[in-house]
Amino acid sequence: MPDGRESAMDGEKRKTAVIDEKEIREQRVFSEKVRGILRKRYGEKPLACVVTFGCQQNLADSEQIKGMLKEMGYGFTDDRFGAKLIIFNTCAVRAHAEDRVFGNIGMLKNYKSENRDVVIACCGCMMQQKHVAERIEKSFPYIDLVFGTHVIYRLPQLIYGALTKRKRIFEIPDTDGAIAEGVPVLRDGSKRAWLPIMYGCNNFCSYCIVPYVRGRERSREADVIIGEARELVKNGCREITLLGQNVNSYGKDLAPRVSFSQLLRRLNEIDGDFRIRFMTSHPKDCTRELIETMAECSKVAKHLHLPFQSGNDRVLRAMNRSYDREKYLSLVNYAKELMGDALSITSDVIVGFPGETYDEFKDTLSLVEEVKFTSLFTFIYSPRKGTPAAEMPDPVSAEEKGVWFRELTELQEKISAENMKKYAGKTFKCFVYGKGKLGDNYVASRTDGNLIIEFEGGEELIDTFQNVKVTEPLTYVLKGEKERN
Ligand code: SAH
Ligand code: SF4
Ligand code: F3S
Repeated sequence: MPDGRESAMDGEKRKTAVIDEKEIREQRVFSEKVRGILRKRYGEKPLACVVTFGCQQNLADSEQIKGMLKEMGYGFTDDRFGAKLIIFNTCAVRAHAEDRVFGNIGMLKNYKSENRDVVIACCGCMMQQKHVAERIEKSFPYIDLVFGTHVIYRLPQLIYGALTKRKRIFEIPDTDGAIAEGVPVLRDGSKRAWLPIMYGCNNFCSYCIVPYVRGRERSREADVIIGEARELVKNGCREITLLGQNVNSYGKDLAPRVSFSQLLRRLNEIDGDFRIRFMTSHPKDCTRELIETMAECSKVAKHLHLPFQSGNDRVLRAMNRSYDREKYLSLVNYAKELMGDALSITSDVIVGFPGETYDEFKDTLSLVEEVKFTSLFTFIYSPRKGTPAAEMPDPVSAEEKGVWFRELTELQEKISAENMKKYAGKTFKCFVYGKGKLGDNYVASRTDGNLIIEFEGGEELIDTFQNVKVTEPLTYVLKGEKERN
């Protein structure tokens, strides 16, 4: 069971649950047992296919899943029809995400009936919802193993069960969640890495399922995060993205408290040529201090992903977002003031929240017009069972929401095109990530704001940072030239 760690939260004592090391060691024993079974059953290394849906949090979880599978003796394939173990790591954020998962599971029915020894598992956010687990139990009898977001570290034991028992396994405890350290991680070997700094969410935005499926906010110890970052940089990693649903409230549950700004400053002190990114920031907890920290720390990418969701104060209140349009704009303007052209701002927006009127939606358009985001992630509202918004009257038709949605995306396309023109003549610090598409002698690089700039240069520049001056904005790509270092 999770061990109790005393810590202070808003002046009060509270327990941050940390999984006992003993339990993690026990998992290693199961891992060995699985290895033995696999060797006997297959001789050679059986292959596993891990399919990941959803956000970076799920990608990071899948890296832990693969880390454990590797210890158990699995190799990996992207071809699910050649795998002995298939794991779907699922997302519940919108209906579309869930439909895709069910579609993918459905396609495995024949494969399973022709290959009885194959183990099929589902995990992730979707499974943490009771009605989904029940549907899998009833309608998808060929799924052998279902586990929730709080027991990923117990994968070796779960796989051992799936390989040895005749019964299907459903392991979905409904807890606030705990932190498991010491779980092996298998990263994809690229120069970019995800680094979770906290889990869960306390905000309960009225439309969102995440707090129900991911549990309460809990932070990893700063020293552990810094140790992991140091190791990554030592192994050649050039870009570390710190992950959390609301990184700005990092450390509130630690004793002594550590703020996100303090964490960033400590990470910035690590020696080496690398860049630090973070996501997601919540405007409610985003402070001027954080913006100053971003501006002052040379290794922190000048990229702020700050979802605003709606430009209208009534809608923001109904969404339970705890900030208003004015606060949002004042944060953005302060960031622009401190970081100027180097700064790129991106955001998430929901169109057609229940009860939103066209007039209110126009406030979203005007905010987009005012901020001039580098890019925007736009979503049509999707009702999520169990959230307050799903119970609210929603009179606007799907067709009408579609019209609003297109109006918004067209506006952003216009702004993105204008931005592209404005980049001409400007110099950006870019990470060169591969060969370019504009010609054989071109390499492709990425700015802090994830804009692509291609320039003439040799392959020896790949995996380095370069200052690149934009010479010609094309439609989706910028053409540039490398500045002398
Ligand atoms: N923690 C992050 C975002 C998590 S989900 C934050 O607070 O910003 C990513 C995005 O999905 C959200 O920012 C929101 O724009 C969108 N989203 C979440 N729930 C949704 C729903 N029910 N319908 C449509 N979009 C939703
Ligand atoms: Fe969802 Fe809001 Fe938490 Fe983001 S902050 S994960 S939108 S509840
Ligand atoms: Fe989806 Fe879960 Fe992320 S619901 S967006 S995978 S936290």
